[in-house]
Amino acid sequence: MSRLHAHIGTFRQLELLLALHDAGSVKAAAERLHLTQPTVSMQLKKLAEAVGMPLYEQFGRRLHFTEAGLAVVATARQVLGSVSRLDMQLADLRGMKAGTLKLAVVTTAKYFVPHLLGPFCERFPHVDVELNVGNRSHIIERLRQGEDDFYVFSHLPAGMALESTEFLPNPLVAIAPENHALAGQKSIPLKRFAREPFLMREPGSGTRYALERYLARRQVDLNVRMTIESNEAIKHAVMSGLGVSILSSHTLAFGGDAGLVVLDVAQLPIPTHWYLVRPSGKAHSVLAQAFFDYLETDGRALLRV
Ligand code: PGA
Repeated sequence: MSRLHAHIGTFRQLELLLALHDAGSVKAAAERLHLTQPTVSMQLKKLAEAVGMPLYEQFGRRLHFTEAGLAVVATARQVLGSVSRLDMQLADLRGMKAGTLKLAVVTTAKYFVPHLLGPFCERFPHVDVELNVGNRSHIIERLRQGEDDFYVFSHLPAGMALESTEFLPNPLVAIAPENHALAGQKSIPLKRFAREPFLMREPGSGTRYALERYLARRQVDLNVRMTIESNEAIKHAVMSGLGVSILSSHTLAFGGDAGLVVLDVAQLPIPTHWYLVRPSGKAHSVLAQAFFDYLETDGRALLRV
């Protein structure tokens, strides 16, 4: 550590020198800072000792700053300016006008979560949002590590202490290409639909988890033709006639549904819901709380379709 680092000990000394420079005399600087003249003189002396050179000279009533003194004044201005900006930034954070909101959402939630974030970010323009997207097992892992402020799932992981709020229905619907033989038929039996070649999400997907549980309870087996790790890729594969699938209706409503139809299958859609989740017992930032409150009020209204 240099001598300067060690000895320009206090911001106060820099503040005094700046006041002296701007006010023009020790007396005026002391008044400005509500200190006595001897205190100011003594602190300035210490500062000059630390620098190892005189910082100013006195000619009668006139002060003349040395080159070293002017250099310290310039740096003092920068340092004190940065500190006051930091102060403001911290005040903003306390008042939640700034900061980073960290969200981790399952892939299927990526269709509507950005629509929620738009108005929120408009209201808090200095807020940064970090949005992580992954399948259910990936997001559960992030939740275990406590990496984010909030998580969006449709099926909460078991065995974890969580606070959750249900905020939107997430129906899983049967989709087929427009020209499919079953398109337009009424109340297609689930077992009949299940005979069609099926395009399945990957293991670890929440959509797959919901689907498997739902069908197992009804003792229905699917004719799985292909496993595909993306809702978009499944939609394209369905459009091109590779098979049918069951996906969240949000993949259609917000992600486009050209070339696809929703089949009227008896016992479908599978009724699931989206939950906003956070670990219980964790201290939440003011910003995280603001997002939670926003979602409970305006966010819900925004997504109501
Ligand atoms: P997924 O999750 O994107 O991993 O399929 C969706 C869900 O949890 O419903």
